Amino acid sequence: MSQDILSSEPSYLEHFYRVLEKNTGIALDASKEYLVSFRLTLLAKKYGHADYAALLKYLFLHPVNSIHWECFEAMTTNETMFYRDIHPFDALKNTILPKLIAKKKEVKELYIWCAASSTGQEPYSLAMLLKENFPELNSWNVYIKATDLSQAAIDKGRLGIYNQTEILRGLTDSQISRYFSKLTNGHYQLAEDIKKIVKFDCMNLVIEWPIMPKFDVILLRNVMIYFNHDTKLEVLKKLNMQLVDKDSVLMLGSSESILYEENFKVVQMDHVSYYQKK
Ligand SMILES: C[S@@+](CC[C@H](N)C(=O)[O-])C[C@H]1O[C@@H](n2cnc3c(N)ncnc32)[C@H](O)[C@@H]1O
Repeated sequence: MSQDILSSEPSYLEHFYRVLEKNTGIALDASKEYLVSFRLTLLAKKYGHADYAALLKYLFLHPVNSIHWECFEAMTTNETMFYRDIHPFDALKNTILPKLIAKKKEVKELYIWCAASSTGQEPYSLAMLLKENFPELNSWNVYIKATDLSQAAIDKGRLGIYNQTEILRGLTDSQISRYFSKLTNGHYQLAEDIKKIVKFDCMNLVIEWPIMPKFDVILLRNVMIYFNHDTKLEVLKKLNMQLVDKDSVLMLGSSESILYEENFKVVQMDHVSYYQKK
């Protein structure tokens, strides 16, 4: 970024940070300038700007439109993998789900939400975990909702096709052969009976939420690290209201904690903590 742009009055870069945070909750600061320049340079070319500084100027001069949203999406970090940080999945398999399933054996329905699902590896890991460990759920109404801000991530998740590197991150050979078929281009297609458990939708956590069912389990992992304190609190309040009852569970990423939120209690296990309504 040239010094001109940073010190220009007003600063186009600072304006971009402000509109990005207002619209997505993602809070960047000057230390992330390399990331902005790297990720916006391609979009600058696509839209015929000389460089990304010129694109920042365009964004400053226009009300938020689809080009802004493309730039916002470019700022998201979609890093994910199957069974990421394995401990939450072990806790779900060994403790959380057996309790919830026993409790719900009359109604026979289980609602799970991955609220920043990126390209689908997290909700599909859950779907495979359910299939492998809880055959009784075959006759239940099991619904995994997967949402993300990024339309590209949602489209990829919905497709259920992953390349070899993605497949090898987190899955065993036996899971690969059980749940995927190899395509002629070397990519892997997820089996339909796992795919159909997960429903993907674009959803921005920092604007008004659509009407949704209440969930027995919500995973919101590795996204609130990008939000500021007030946005985190706001999202946590809404998550609390989106849980069915005191037995429902919220799981965050391994480096994330709940901040002070008086409506949640923390349940500490050996390798993972999770949260429940008080
Ligand atoms: C690092 S990924 C985490 C994916 C997955 N939960 C995991 O832990 O592997 C963070 C995701 O949060 C999404 N995200 C960022 N801001 C968001 C927002 N305001 N609403 C919904 N999703 C958002 C990004 O698009 C990205 O896919």
